[in-house]
Amino acid sequence: MFEGSADIYDRFVGRYGVPLGDAMLDFAGVGAGIRVLDVGCGTGALAGQAAARVGAANVAGADPSEPFVESCRRRVPGADVRVAPAESLPFDDDCFDAVMAQLAVQFMSDAPRGVSEMARVARPGGVVAACVWDYADRMRLLRAFWDAAVTVDPGSAARDEARLLRYAKADELGALWSEAGLADVATEGLEVEAAYDDFDDLWLPFLAGVGPAGAYAASLDPDGQAALREQLRQELGDPSGPFTLTALAWGVRGNA
Ligand SMILES: C[S@@+](CC[C@H](N)C(=O)[O-])C[C@H]1O[C@@H](n2cnc3c(N)ncnc32)[C@H](O)[C@@H]1O
Repeated sequence: MFEGSADIYDRFVGRYGVPLGDAMLDFAGVGAGIRVLDVGCGTGALAGQAAARVGAANVAGADPSEPFVESCRRRVPGADVRVAPAESLPFDDDCFDAVMAQLAVQFMSDAPRGVSEMARVARPGGVVAACVWDYADRMRLLRAFWDAAVTVDPGSAARDEARLLRYAKADELGALWSEAGLADVATEGLEVEAAYDDFDDLWLPFLAGVGPAGAYAASLDPDGQAALREQLRQELGDPSGPFTLTALAWGVRGNA
């Protein structure tokens, strides 16, 4: 799902990644002098924003997708970016002040193990933080997409990320953090927005098959894609010309 083009990802959900990275860094209290690890770094939206605050030499990243890791290395030269899943982080114990995962916990094959690895590499008292989209409600792009898909093809309901993916609510994320032994666990909604030139600027990246929604759109035949495209346009209020959408992710943080 995430082995495709990094450029397409950045035009798709990645469009929200930079402002969300800043919101995450504020939420985790990351400022100068802090060493940061970005777990599930993807193309490096959060890692890039972290480097602007703490310097690339103080930033590391890990992601199982080789093309995304390559893209992150190009985006954040000087950062230590490695191909690895959260469940098996190739870093020593206690070596980061802040360990963060932006929009990645829900894709881990074993999230409790991934979070316990995040806690292991954080220094005692360091912050461990993550966020996951509010797929069920306030992540407008993906909510509108699945509402449109289910209208056109009721059978697609089982593929809706709000049903498919875990940890997309504050209480579930908070429980995952507490069960990993993290202290002073807090959750908060982080809202960002992205701008689109027009409706096709939003629609075309879906067809590249990135992520669960892209994989579904790309699996349809041309008639199915045309019907979904039209329904999605209606869900979004039939925009003509430029528009913006808001997206809310649930953030969680705790101390190792
Ligand atoms: C929606 S993308 C988010 C990427 C990036 N953090 C961002 O905010 O743009 C999800 C990322 O999770 C990564 N991922 C999937 N399974 C993972 C795992 N087990 N451990 C860590 N990352 C994983 C994917 O390769 C992908 O880069």
